[in-house]
Amino acid sequence: MWIVIICAGFAAGATPRNEIPIGPGLRALAAPRHLDIGAAVAIEPLAGDPRYRDALARDCSILTSENVMKFGPIHPEPDRYAFEAADALVAFAQQHGMRVRGHALVWHEQLAPWVTERQRTREEWQRLLHDHISAVVGHYKGRVYAWDVVNEAVAEDGTLRETPWLKGIGPDYLEMAFRWAHEADPDAKLFYNDYGESNERKQKAIHRLLRDLLKKGAPIHGAGLQMHMDVDSHPRPSAVARAITRLHRLGLEVHVTEMDVAVPEPFTDRRLGEQAELYRKMMRTCLDTKGCTAFITWGISDRYSWIPAFRRGWGAALPLDAEFQAKPGYRAIRDALSR
Ligand code: G3I
Repeated sequence: MWIVIICAGFAAGATPRNEIPIGPGLRALAAPRHLDIGAAVAIEPLAGDPRYRDALARDCSILTSENVMKFGPIHPEPDRYAFEAADALVAFAQQHGMRVRGHALVWHEQLAPWVTERQRTREEWQRLLHDHISAVVGHYKGRVYAWDVVNEAVAEDGTLRETPWLKGIGPDYLEMAFRWAHEADPDAKLFYNDYGESNERKQKAIHRLLRDLLKKGAPIHGAGLQMHMDVDSHPRPSAVARAITRLHRLGLEVHVTEMDVAVPEPFTDRRLGEQAELYRKMMRTCLDTKGCTAFITWGISDRYSWIPAFRRGWGAALPLDAEFQAKPGYRAIRDALSR
């Protein structure tokens, strides 16, 4: 209610535009619910846009690196790691008492070109992956709370995706990756992260994969549900609750890791209202389902979202608009947390 009044003040011109509405923020509301709340962070605005930094500081208890910890950016050449950008993100989080989710150690996208440009034996692939994981996790030992160790390893039909890692090492690469990450930082929480919450076949396959890895003793502590969706195509809250419960029964905690809700142009009030309902329902689902311990959106402001560049004609996917004003989606998350 309070934020509504503040925003009404903005509309009336009482407060200069471009100023973030002052309030307790989502972080303060999530803390008593024992829920981490946060956003994926892009490094350029973190360095250059004070409104972005202020919004993160106000609303987030946990930050995910959107790109800077991925293989290509952080390990651009065989013998060179580029930690500077990720170090800046971690330093910002530490200054504000936030946790960091490292994303992602093993993925088939955003790989450095040198990784795939020549043939390697299985042993060479193993050494490459081992050295990468040890160096990156080791560098952030004690400073990264949770890692997406393996990202998107399961295909739509439930089989293991044909990635360079699967081709180079075989299905054992998953177990190896978790073990090597655990060796490098025994206190970090290690996650498997994927999308496809509406695809029951894929969800069951992920559950089986994690169950079998856990049986082998692989150090896996959590699963991430990415939750990218749009106003016309989205999982039912009941399917999300089912996925969380199933994973939690394996002893895993579950993070909503990358939620956003894309809207088609024009971004009408009706469509933004539909978006708000999805944010409300998914936040409620997380709060009401045992095992869901973090709720993270893939960005915080529409000014810096991946959607328009990847989906022509779609955008406005995040809780704050491009001027950092609270959208109905922001207020819906706030209401769900205040309930
Ligand atoms: O860093 C280069 C820059 O040097 C260059 O000038 C510029 C020119 O296009 O490209 C920059 O890299 C881009 C990078 O984002 C940083 O902006 C890449 O081209 C672009 O492909 C990359 O996109 C990222 C995408 O993953 C890669 O697949 C998105 O920002 C990022 O939001 C997105 O995140 C993924 C998660 O990791 C996994 N789940 C799905 C999610 C959305 O696709």
